[in-house]
Amino acid sequence: MRQKTRSCCSRSCRPPDGKRKRLLPLLLAAALTLSGCGGGGGDDSLRIGFALYTQDDTFISTVAQNLEWMVREAERETGQKITLFTADGRSSQTTQLDQVDRFLARGCDVLMVNIVDRTAAAVIADKAEAEGVPLIFFNRQPVEEDIQRWDQIYYVGASARESGDLQGGLVLDAWRENREALDRNGDGVLQYAMLEGEPGHQDSLLRTEYSIKALTDGGVEVEKLANETANWNRAQAAARTAQWLEEFGSRIEVIFANNDDMALGAIDALSGTPRSGWPLIVGVDATAPAQEAVAAGQLYGTVHNDGRGQARVMLDMALALWHGENPGEAVTLEEGHYVWLPYRPVTLENLEELRREQEETGPATQLD
Ligand code: GAL
Ligand code: CA
Repeated sequence: MRQKTRSCCSRSCRPPDGKRKRLLPLLLAAALTLSGCGGGGGDDSLRIGFALYTQDDTFISTVAQNLEWMVREAERETGQKITLFTADGRSSQTTQLDQVDRFLARGCDVLMVNIVDRTAAAVIADKAEAEGVPLIFFNRQPVEEDIQRWDQIYYVGASARESGDLQGGLVLDAWRENREALDRNGDGVLQYAMLEGEPGHQDSLLRTEYSIKALTDGGVEVEKLANETANWNRAQAAARTAQWLEEFGSRIEVIFANNDDMALGAIDALSGTPRSGWPLIVGVDATAPAQEAVAAGQLYGTVHNDGRGQARVMLDMALALWHGENPGEAVTLEEGHYVWLPYRPVTLENLEELRREQEETGPATQLD
């Protein structure tokens, strides 16, 4: 039996009149089982439907691993049974819509959706609302209008603009501290190439824009030699960088990558060439392999994207909703719908600090 009885106990979970088709049967079920919020019924498991745009993405798979780990921990600590249904959208919105339908049919109590195509958010929002199932979008941000469609739609993520600012800030510091090494042709201008993530994704657009803005605001003159999308992908980034190396050779002073996988692709393309000729490379995410590359001095810096924090917040919200509480009491909700996790810059200087923190708070196999 579906566990929606808890919602009837909570003002925050109560849908507007007529919103919940199953309200009557649920009230009956609640009466029959004399259950409280989050209580009785045949099955007292909290069911979470967790939809990923693709599992084949390093950062997203770290969010998934962290969530799985936290679910097991929460079960151990609270005795609350939690069933996590994970679905890989394989980059197809049609596939993901089917997966969402299946989650709803299986009686999921909360949906967590890393949407494939943000323009489909309204369709998912309406399905969830029709079933009275709270919906948390994460990492790929729908437009505000879609988030506002219903009071139980949320977004958990990080500000793309902030990651761009911080990435640009890393390069600005390097320019100020060690300009001679960076400005290899000595013309006082920073020549760069930009590896962009998926076209149209806020993280691609805003990281591209604000990383450069941080430099120009800091008074650095820049010259773009090249920019191309590599779709967050390491192999595509390696191929683009190999072409650029043929075309521009040592003229490239910095390679900005919208994420770490692409920064690692640039490093792949450079491996085999003398290290003294490498441009400065920066990424975003602070994935495990990127942390290794920072430690090895191949990647100058990255910006930590708190996938673990996103998983933590979503689970706390799901548990609060399950207990019929206002999720705003469990996490810091902005404008009633948004939770923003902070980014932070990572270089060799503070890498150890980040690693220590991750060892203390996360799964044994560190991947983020
Ligand atoms: C970004 C992340 C990328 C990729 C993308 C997927 O926030 O930096 O590595 O995971 O999300 O939406
Ligand atoms: Ca220069």
